[in-house]
Amino acid sequence: MTQLTRRSLLGSTTVGAAATGLSTGLIGTPAQAAPFRTARRRDRVERLLARMTLAEKIGQLRLANTAEDTEAALRTTGCGGVFSVVGAAQLNALQQQALQTRLAIPLIVGLDVIHGYTTNFPIPLGQAASWDPEVAASDARTSAAEARRSGITWTYAPMMDVSHEPRWGRIAEGNGEDPYLTTRFAVAKTKAYQGADLARPDTLAACAKHYVGYGQPEGGRDYNTVDVSIQRLHNTYLPPFRACVEAGIATVMASFNTISGVPAHANAYTIREVLKQRYGFDGFVVSDYTGIQELIPHGIAGNGTDAAREGIRAGVDMEMTSTNYVEHARDLLRTGAISQREIDDAVRRILTVKDDLGLFDNPFVDPAGETVSVSAQARAAARTAAARSLVLLRNENGVLPLSKGRTVAVVGPLGTATYDLNGTWSGLGTGASTTEPTTVLDAIKAISGGSVTYTPGCAVDDTDTSGIDAAVAAARAADVCVLVLGETAAMSGEAAARSDIGLPGVQQQLADRVGAAQPHTVAVLLNGRPLTLTQLAAAVPAILEAFAPGLEGGNAIADALFGITNPGGKLPVSFPRSVGQVPIYYNHENTGRPYDPDNKYTSKYLDLPDGPLYEFGFGLSYTSFEVSGVRFSSDTLPRRHGRVTVAATVRNTGARAGDEVVQLYLHDPVASIVQPVRRLRGFERVTLAPGEQRTVRFTLTREDVGFYDDQARFIVEPGQVEVYVGTSSDQATKAGVLTVR
Ligand code: NOJ
Repeated sequence: MTQLTRRSLLGSTTVGAAATGLSTGLIGTPAQAAPFRTARRRDRVERLLARMTLAEKIGQLRLANTAEDTEAALRTTGCGGVFSVVGAAQLNALQQQALQTRLAIPLIVGLDVIHGYTTNFPIPLGQAASWDPEVAASDARTSAAEARRSGITWTYAPMMDVSHEPRWGRIAEGNGEDPYLTTRFAVAKTKAYQGADLARPDTLAACAKHYVGYGQPEGGRDYNTVDVSIQRLHNTYLPPFRACVEAGIATVMASFNTISGVPAHANAYTIREVLKQRYGFDGFVVSDYTGIQELIPHGIAGNGTDAAREGIRAGVDMEMTSTNYVEHARDLLRTGAISQREIDDAVRRILTVKDDLGLFDNPFVDPAGETVSVSAQARAAARTAAARSLVLLRNENGVLPLSKGRTVAVVGPLGTATYDLNGTWSGLGTGASTTEPTTVLDAIKAISGGSVTYTPGCAVDDTDTSGIDAAVAAARAADVCVLVLGETAAMSGEAAARSDIGLPGVQQQLADRVGAAQPHTVAVLLNGRPLTLTQLAAAVPAILEAFAPGLEGGNAIADALFGITNPGGKLPVSFPRSVGQVPIYYNHENTGRPYDPDNKYTSKYLDLPDGPLYEFGFGLSYTSFEVSGVRFSSDTLPRRHGRVTVAATVRNTGARAGDEVVQLYLHDPVASIVQPVRRLRGFERVTLAPGEQRTVRFTLTREDVGFYDDQARFIVEPGQVEVYVGTSSDQATKAGVLTVR
């Protein structure tokens, strides 16, 4: 891109790079200064920078990942930080060594605190199913306090990769398929990790990852190529990053993928031009694990020197694990391939975050205060989060909730799961591995009030069907059967792509046989991605989707099964009928031949009905709701400072208390680039007693109705925009038309 665009809510102003004077992306005039940054602290960084030798500067660009490497680096190349080392005593010892270097520069200490440090919350995909950003915030507050007390200062979260790829295992770590939902969750999490002051003992520097486009690898295979249009990049993948920069996020991590031929780690457009210049990001960019080294197998660097040059030029400030920067930066400077200004800029960014964290004042933690167990408060927060993350996908004939006092056959390989309840990226903090979740079986036993049997029936992922007969007999002998099925924790997350996203192994056979034998069968699913559930839905009358619900997941599931709570989550991602539909997402663009059941020559499959099995925003409840009376404060969105409020009344029309998520979608029927058929721009989850009603209000601004065009310009086009309000992406009905001036 040779053009830069100054983002404007009132349209777009396109200016040449030269005219802006922003051609380098070096910090100095950030668009947004983080609230905790003070002039005094900036002075300290400048004074320090002025005293540093080149070797000391280059040393700050290194991020080691073992205690031994860190110790060795502090003695030789220098070291800016360490990650994946836990334990207050060990981290204090490393900080002590860092303070003994000439300028006594402390280490930044990173860890993948993704959905918990000691206390595991639901995986991020599950959290997004709550449609309640406070769930993510409560995870972040709890995790930050636990981790910081234990010597960690920096988390590699939130991941904000929008993804239309259920085959990709890392969909578990994000917030699903929608940029708006993802943005709301990512911002809530960022603010909660970082608090008002990073120097406080209960905060962590957050890291927006993976920058950018990682969620759309071809074929769903992790680390694979991403080819993305400019408009998709800016409308779909970048919005959460931009919003987190505006929220003051301290760091950003580059992604493993290429973006239209240019690896993210060598991508000056995305990092220098968009992130640092256009968004005004003034924290630092860290590579992903060996991401700089991987520029060699990507084939855009012939050796480590090239790789370091490309990374530094692109604006990746710190190199994780591999050591090309510390090995080659001096030579690159000598030959003029990189500039002193680029090095100084990277070091300044890193030192500023360390300073914001208060590390120059005190990098140590009190080992007596280290988090080694789960507090009652953390456990309660994890239980609330798990309860709010459950999605009821099917409930024929009121099978759920179950009555107490009846005999229950718990069947299925995950009935006694512990680690698999926690999901991917769990158990990394001190004390986490010694705190096991209550199993679904034990949680049911604790509240069912009747006899409970357990028969696994089969393993999660093998071909042995010999246990199925016993499971069928157990299900038949009981009043009801709870089938606990799904994926192990290791089947999603990093490097965990699946080509088939059905139930693994012979679990479907188990469900078919048990469902046929026991009409009162309820399937509970533990999984890290959308699964194809067409056959399961035909086999059983009820399905409760739990994703990987974390430490308190077993208890939360049992509470929901017995009606102690009422599931109110909604899907943050489409569940396809068949893997052949992938990518399938609600906010797909218009085609010239939209689906028409009566016309063969429209966009469709011959062998499948239209659309997913369960759509984005879908989820049932034990009660029922009605959304009505949608009204607009004005039917016109004016040109200057425009905003329109859309209000709707939601009423609980059933006999139980429950939650509904009211959702607002837009559609721009005529625009200069093809628009999504629906675009989420507002949601609110409400809890209502039977008969109770509430008014929910959404504010629409020009930012909501605008979009990025194929030149990455944010534009608001005068015309009509349709507004839809309802309870899922399919069930939202047209509430009116807004005229945009
Ligand atoms: C690789 C992963 O892609 C990234 O998400 C993680 O933060 C780093 N490894 C560090 O563990």
